[in-house]
Amino acid sequence: MSRKQKLVVLTGAGVSAESGLDTFRDSGGLWGKYDPQVVASIDGWHRNKRLMIDFYNDLRVGLKDKKPNKAHLLIAQLEEKYNVTVITQNVDNLHERAGSTRIIHLHGELTKVRPEVGEYDRTFSEKEVIDIGYGTIDLGDLAPNGSQLRPHIVWFGESVPQIERAIEEVEQADIMLIVGTSLQVYPAAGLYRYADPHIPIYIIDPKDVAICDGRINHIKAVASEGMETFIREIEKN
Ligand code: APR
Repeated sequence: MSRKQKLVVLTGAGVSAESGLDTFRDSGGLWGKYDPQVVASIDGWHRNKRLMIDFYNDLRVGLKDKKPNKAHLLIAQLEEKYNVTVITQNVDNLHERAGSTRIIHLHGELTKVRPEVGEYDRTFSEKEVIDIGYGTIDLGDLAPNGSQLRPHIVWFGESVPQIERAIEEVEQADIMLIVGTSLQVYPAAGLYRYADPHIPIYIIDPKDVAICDGRINHIKAVASEGMETFIREIEKN
Protein backbone atom coordinates (compact mmCIF):
# COMPACT_ATOMS: atom_id res chain seq x y z
CA MET A 1 0.00 0.00 0.00
CA SER A 2 1.80 3.15 -1.17
CA ARG A 3 1.70 6.25 1.06
CA LYS A 4 -1.16 8.61 0.20
CA GLN A 5 0.09 11.93 -1.16
CA LYS A 6 -0.37 14.83 1.28
CA LEU A 7 -2.81 17.43 -0.09
CA VAL A 8 -3.11 20.73 1.81
CA VAL A 9 -6.14 22.85 0.91
CA LEU A 10 -6.22 26.52 1.96
CA THR A 11 -9.75 27.92 1.67
CA GLY A 12 -11.33 31.35 2.00
CA ALA A 13 -14.79 32.86 1.74
CA GLY A 14 -15.06 32.01 -1.97
CA VAL A 15 -15.43 28.29 -1.23
CA SER A 16 -18.64 29.09 0.71
CA ALA A 17 -19.99 31.64 -1.81
CA GLU A 18 -22.08 29.03 -3.64
CA SER A 19 -23.61 28.08 -0.28
CA GLY A 20 -25.01 31.60 -0.07
CA LEU A 21 -22.49 33.02 2.40
CA ASP A 22 -21.16 36.53 1.70
CA THR A 23 -17.50 36.90 0.85
CA PHE A 24 -15.70 39.87 2.40
CA ARG A 25 -14.13 41.89 -0.42
CA ASP A 26 -16.22 41.11 -3.49
CA SER A 27 -18.74 43.74 -4.48
CA GLY A 28 -21.65 43.29 -2.07
CA GLY A 29 -19.32 41.55 0.37
CA LEU A 30 -19.49 41.83 4.15
CA TRP A 31 -16.83 44.52 4.42
CA GLY A 32 -18.80 46.60 1.97
CA LYS A 33 -21.69 46.66 4.45
CA TYR A 34 -19.79 46.76 7.75
CA ASP A 35 -16.48 48.29 8.82
CA PRO A 36 -14.29 45.36 9.96
CA GLN A 37 -12.57 47.62 12.48
CA VAL A 38 -15.99 48.16 14.12
CA VAL A 39 -17.41 44.60 13.97
CA ALA A 40 -14.34 42.33 13.70
CA SER A 41 -11.45 43.82 15.68
CA ILE A 42 -10.31 43.53 19.30
CA ASP A 43 -10.49 47.35 19.56
CA GLY A 44 -14.09 47.16 18.34
CA TRP A 45 -14.83 44.62 21.10
CA HIS A 46 -13.50 46.96 23.81
CA ARG A 47 -15.45 49.86 22.27
CA ASN A 48 -18.82 48.14 21.85
CA LYS A 49 -19.27 44.52 23.04
CA ARG A 50 -23.04 44.63 22.55
CA LEU A 51 -22.67 45.52 18.83
CA MET A 52 -20.16 42.73 18.21
CA ILE A 53 -22.15 40.15 20.23
CA ASP A 54 -25.19 40.97 18.05
CA PHE A 55 -23.13 40.90 14.79
CA TYR A 56 -21.82 37.40 15.46
CA ASN A 57 -25.17 36.19 16.87
CA ASP A 58 -26.78 37.14 13.54
CA LEU A 59 -24.07 35.35 11.50
CA ARG A 60 -24.24 32.26 13.76
CA VAL A 61 -28.04 31.95 13.65
CA GLY A 62 -27.94 32.52 9.88
CA LEU A 63 -25.43 29.68 9.41
CA LYS A 64 -28.01 27.07 10.49
CA ASP A 65 -29.87 27.00 7.16
CA LYS A 66 -26.74 27.15 4.97
CA LYS A 67 -25.54 23.93 3.35
CA PRO A 68 -22.13 22.73 2.13
CA ASN A 69 -21.83 23.08 -1.66
CA LYS A 70 -20.25 20.75 -4.22
CA ALA A 71 -16.80 22.26 -3.62
CA HIS A 72 -16.90 21.40 0.10
CA LEU A 73 -18.12 17.90 -0.76
CA LEU A 74 -15.41 17.27 -3.41
CA ILE A 75 -12.72 18.48 -0.99
CA ALA A 76 -14.04 16.02 1.62
CA GLN A 77 -14.20 13.16 -0.92
CA LEU A 78 -10.52 13.68 -1.80
CA GLU A 79 -9.73 12.07 1.58
CA GLU A 80 -10.38 8.71 -0.07
CA LYS A 81 -7.27 9.06 -2.23
CA TYR A 82 -5.17 11.72 -0.46
CA ASN A 83 -4.01 12.58 3.03
CA VAL A 84 -5.96 15.87 3.16
CA THR A 85 -5.62 18.76 5.60
CA VAL A 86 -7.98 21.70 5.17
CA ILE A 87 -6.61 25.01 6.44
CA THR A 88 -9.53 27.42 6.32
CA GLN A 89 -9.84 31.15 6.96
CA ASN A 90 -13.60 30.62 7.15
CA VAL A 91 -15.44 30.52 10.46
CA ASP A 92 -18.39 28.58 9.04
CA ASN A 93 -18.76 24.83 9.70
CA LEU A 94 -19.39 23.80 6.09
CA HIS A 95 -16.15 21.80 5.66
CA GLU A 96 -17.10 19.78 8.77
CA ARG A 97 -20.65 19.26 7.52
CA ALA A 98 -19.33 18.14 4.11
CA GLY A 99 -17.30 15.40 5.85
CA SER A 100 -13.73 16.76 5.97
CA THR A 101 -11.98 15.30 9.02
CA ARG A 102 -8.76 17.31 9.38
CA ILE A 103 -9.54 21.04 9.53
CA ILE A 104 -7.51 23.93 10.93
CA HIS A 105 -9.64 27.05 11.50
CA LEU A 106 -7.07 29.87 11.33
CA HIS A 107 -9.65 32.59 12.12
CA GLY A 108 -11.82 30.70 14.64
CA GLU A 109 -15.25 29.11 14.52
CA LEU A 110 -18.64 30.84 14.47
CA THR A 111 -20.40 28.05 16.43
CA LYS A 112 -18.02 28.42 19.40
CA VAL A 113 -17.53 30.93 22.23
CA ARG A 114 -14.92 31.30 24.96
CA PRO A 115 -14.15 33.41 28.04
CA GLU A 116 -13.05 36.99 27.34
CA VAL A 117 -10.12 36.49 29.73
CA GLY A 118 -8.43 33.09 29.84
CA GLU A 119 -8.00 31.19 33.10
CA TYR A 120 -4.21 31.55 33.17
CA ASP A 121 -3.62 34.88 31.51
CA ARG A 122 -5.16 36.93 28.75
CA THR A 123 -4.90 33.97 26.36
CA PHE A 124 -7.38 31.11 26.53
CA SER A 125 -6.89 27.35 26.50
CA GLU A 126 -8.77 25.06 24.07
CA LYS A 127 -10.57 23.41 27.00
CA GLU A 128 -12.28 26.74 27.77
CA VAL A 129 -13.87 26.85 24.28
CA ILE A 130 -17.61 26.06 24.32
CA ASP A 131 -19.61 24.85 21.30
CA ILE A 132 -23.03 26.60 21.28
CA GLY A 133 -24.04 25.45 17.79
CA TYR A 134 -26.35 28.06 16.20
CA GLY A 135 -27.30 29.62 19.56
CA THR A 136 -26.70 33.15 20.82
CA ILE A 137 -24.87 34.75 23.73
CA ASP A 138 -25.68 37.98 25.55
CA LEU A 139 -23.85 40.67 27.44
CA GLY A 140 -23.66 39.30 30.99
CA ASP A 141 -23.39 35.66 29.92
CA LEU A 142 -20.30 34.52 31.82
CA ALA A 143 -17.88 31.68 31.26
CA PRO A 144 -17.17 29.21 34.12
CA ASN A 145 -14.15 31.34 35.04
CA GLY A 146 -16.45 34.32 35.55
CA SER A 147 -15.46 36.41 32.53
CA GLN A 148 -17.77 37.54 29.73
CA LEU A 149 -18.31 35.01 26.96
CA ARG A 150 -17.06 36.20 23.52
CA PRO A 151 -17.14 34.72 20.00
CA HIS A 152 -14.30 32.23 19.35
CA ILE A 153 -13.14 34.29 16.37
CA VAL A 154 -9.67 35.71 15.61
CA TRP A 155 -10.32 39.43 15.21
CA PHE A 156 -8.15 42.04 13.51
CA GLY A 157 -5.45 42.99 16.01
CA GLU A 158 -5.28 39.49 17.52
CA SER A 159 -2.71 36.74 16.97
CA VAL A 160 -3.47 33.59 14.94
CA PRO A 161 -2.77 30.73 17.41
CA GLN A 162 -3.01 27.95 14.76
CA ILE A 163 -0.53 29.50 12.29
CA GLU A 164 2.50 27.42 13.36
CA ARG A 165 0.47 24.22 12.95
CA ALA A 166 -0.69 25.41 9.51
CA ILE A 167 2.88 26.18 8.41
CA GLU A 168 3.99 22.66 9.39
CA GLU A 169 1.19 21.18 7.29
CA VAL A 170 2.14 23.27 4.24
CA GLU A 171 5.84 22.40 4.62
CA GLN A 172 4.94 18.68 4.36
CA ALA A 173 2.52 19.04 1.42
CA ASP A 174 3.01 17.11 -1.85
CA ILE A 175 0.28 19.21 -3.51
CA MET A 176 -1.20 22.54 -2.40
CA LEU A 177 -4.63 23.81 -3.42
CA ILE A 178 -5.92 27.31 -2.67
CA VAL A 179 -9.66 27.91 -3.12
CA GLY A 180 -11.59 31.17 -2.93
CA THR A 181 -9.34 33.61 -1.11
CA SER A 182 -8.13 37.06 -2.15
CA LEU A 183 -4.84 36.34 -0.32
CA GLN A 184 -4.91 39.80 1.26
CA VAL A 185 -4.91 38.89 4.96
CA TYR A 186 -1.69 37.70 6.61
CA PRO A 187 -0.37 35.38 7.92
CA ALA A 188 -2.80 33.12 5.98
CA ALA A 189 -1.94 34.77 2.66
CA GLY A 190 1.75 33.94 3.08
CA LEU A 191 1.28 30.23 3.81
CA TYR A 192 1.94 29.07 0.24
CA ARG A 193 5.52 30.43 0.53
CA TYR A 194 6.27 27.61 3.01
CA ALA A 195 5.51 24.93 0.44
CA ASP A 196 8.39 22.88 -0.97
CA PRO A 197 9.52 24.79 -4.12
CA HIS A 198 9.10 21.65 -6.24
CA ILE A 199 5.45 20.90 -5.51
CA PRO A 200 2.52 22.06 -7.68
CA ILE A 201 0.24 24.80 -6.32
CA TYR A 202 -3.26 25.21 -7.77
CA ILE A 203 -5.50 28.22 -7.18
CA ILE A 204 -9.24 28.14 -7.89
CA ASP A 205 -10.75 31.60 -8.22
CA PRO A 206 -13.02 33.14 -10.88
CA LYS A 207 -10.99 36.37 -10.67
CA ASP A 208 -7.30 37.03 -11.41
CA VAL A 209 -5.05 36.03 -8.51
CA ALA A 210 -2.78 38.38 -6.59
CA ILE A 211 0.34 36.19 -6.58
CA CYS A 212 2.64 35.50 -9.51
CA ASP A 213 4.79 32.47 -8.82
CA GLY A 214 5.96 30.06 -11.52
CA ARG A 215 4.44 27.09 -9.69
CA ILE A 216 0.93 28.51 -9.64
CA ASN A 217 -1.70 26.78 -11.78
CA HIS A 218 -4.68 29.18 -11.82
CA ILE A 219 -8.01 27.44 -12.46
CA LYS A 220 -10.21 30.41 -13.36
CA ALA A 221 -13.61 29.18 -12.22
CA VAL A 222 -16.01 29.18 -9.29
CA ALA A 223 -15.17 26.67 -6.58
CA SER A 224 -17.58 23.86 -7.54
CA GLU A 225 -16.49 23.81 -11.23
CA GLY A 226 -12.86 24.50 -10.36
CA MET A 227 -12.78 21.49 -8.03
CA GLU A 228 -13.88 19.21 -10.88
CA THR A 229 -11.11 20.61 -13.09
CA PHE A 230 -8.56 20.26 -10.27
CA ILE A 231 -9.48 16.61 -9.69
CA ARG A 232 -9.14 15.84 -13.42
CA GLU A 233 -5.72 17.58 -13.40
CA ILE A 234 -4.22 15.74 -10.43
CA GLU A 235 -5.62 12.38 -11.55
CA LYS A 236 -3.60 12.78 -14.78
CA ASN A 237 -0.36 12.77 -12.77
N1 APR B 1 -15.80 30.39 -6.04
C1 APR B 1 -14.48 30.59 -5.78
N2 APR B 1 -13.93 31.78 -5.42
C2 APR B 1 -14.77 32.82 -5.33
C3 APR B 1 -16.17 32.72 -5.58
C4 APR B 1 -16.67 31.44 -5.94
N3 APR B 1 -17.97 31.23 -6.19
N4 APR B 1 -16.72 33.95 -5.40
C5 APR B 1 -15.71 34.78 -5.04
N5 APR B 1 -14.54 34.11 -5.01
C6 APR B 1 -13.21 34.61 -4.67
C7 APR B 1 -13.01 36.08 -4.90
O1 APR B 1 -12.56 36.32 -6.23
C8 APR B 1 -11.90 36.40 -3.88
O2 APR B 1 -10.61 36.15 -4.43
O3 APR B 1 -13.06 34.42 -3.28
C9 APR B 1 -12.18 35.41 -2.75
C10 APR B 1 -12.83 36.05 -1.55
O4 APR B 1 -11.90 36.96 -1.00
P1 APR B 1 -12.28 37.71 0.37
O5 APR B 1 -13.69 38.19 0.28
O6 APR B 1 -11.18 38.67 0.65
O7 APR B 1 -12.28 36.53 1.45
P2 APR B 1 -11.02 35.87 2.15
O8 APR B 1 -9.84 35.85 1.24
O9 APR B 1 -11.48 34.57 2.71
O10 APR B 1 -10.72 36.88 3.39
C11 APR B 1 -9.70 36.48 4.27
O11 APR B 1 -10.20 38.37 5.70
O12 APR B 1 -11.70 39.70 6.79
C12 APR B 1 -10.85 38.65 6.94
O13 APR B 1 -11.06 37.00 8.57
C13 APR B 1 -11.59 37.42 7.35
O14 APR B 1 -11.08 35.14 6.82
C14 APR B 1 -11.28 36.42 6.25
C15 APR B 1 -10.01 36.97 5.65
